Amino acid sequence: MQLDINQITPLLGGMSPETFMRRYWQKKPLLIRQAMPGVRSPIERAALFSLAAQDDVECRLVVQQPKAKAGAPAWRMQQGPLTRRQLPPLDQAGWTLLVQGLDLHVPAAYELLQQFRFVPDARLDDLMISYASDGGGVGPHYDAYDVFLLQVHGQRRWRVGPIKDDTLQAGVPLKILSHFEPEQEWLLEPGDMLYLPPMWAHDGIAQGECMTCSVGFRVPEASELAREVLLRLVESIDCEDKPKLYHDPKQPATATPGLVPAALQDFAAAAVAKALKDPAALNTALGEVMTEPKPKVWFQSGEPLSDGVGVRLDPRTRMVYDERCIFVNGESWRAAGKDARHMRALADQRRLSASAVALTSDAMKELLNQWAEDGWLHPEG
Ligand code: SIN
Ligand code: CO
Repeated sequence: MQLDINQITPLLGGMSPETFMRRYWQKKPLLIRQAMPGVRSPIERAALFSLAAQDDVECRLVVQQPKAKAGAPAWRMQQGPLTRRQLPPLDQAGWTLLVQGLDLHVPAAYELLQQFRFVPDARLDDLMISYASDGGGVGPHYDAYDVFLLQVHGQRRWRVGPIKDDTLQAGVPLKILSHFEPEQEWLLEPGDMLYLPPMWAHDGIAQGECMTCSVGFRVPEASELAREVLLRLVESIDCEDKPKLYHDPKQPATATPGLVPAALQDFAAAAVAKALKDPAALNTALGEVMTEPKPKVWFQSGEPLSDGVGVRLDPRTRMVYDERCIFVNGESWRAAGKDARHMRALADQRRLSASAVALTSDAMKELLNQWAEDGWLHPEG
């Protein structure tokens, strides 16, 4: 369910998405009591443990060892997949299992995520769930993420504060702050939710058995994004126009053969400037990068569409658009006119009715069919 951005909602503590974004997003934490009254975990404990054993699921186990002897590690971390036997017993205190990308595997988690689409999809990362035994947590830390921490089962005590000292504890397999000075503290009950902007120190400790969903938003880092976008750009120039060779008919004989010719430097600068000159190419590269599926994501091929059906995107499909192109799972297509309208509606609503599909061009129907065969979308209705 998508929210009306101007409508007040319990999800945001009686604010509209518009007000929340203006007052809190990327600015300050917000505790929302009963954001989702009566919420149930999108997955039961036993099913979550089974999921953790799957190869295509990203998860990790964090165990605190309270009685660690001097010199022994106080924390243990193990990456998944994890079988039930690799998880500690339920009555052992201080452990937590964190499962990423629950929305990719569990329809109820995917549905829950839809309520947060008042933020652009390009920013959305995934829904992570943590299961913790009494006292479990991952220690005081900060994330480069915006996150909504929704309590879905049991209680968790959250302490938060600005980072005054970012020194990390040495010799632990997690990023744990050495000096955490919380300024606020709350006990969250099922249905309560805490929004945290990036770079706020926080520590959540389970009080009894607890489950917390984290709706996380990726925050691109400038140099990393530049590297990825530039790589895509280079790929796109590769197949463009004719090769343009450097030529230097005026190169005089040189007595300093080690010196790089200034003309070659200018040639390189012009080639790079040309690659960056076209904002449309840069935006296309960006759209492709933003929709690239995560490493453990793969699609199951599907059947071609039959006549008269609508379509819905697979939960794994990332689809966004700009004024020129649409981007799906790391690829891009130019879209114009009536088809562009339908494509954009598909990206915004993640579904397209049978009557809308019927109105699209043959070329777009063929593309939708291809995507159905690739498992990127499925027939509906
Ligand atoms: C958790 O759910 O235990 C950790 C979430 C977080 O602190 O980012
Ligand atoms: Co965190």
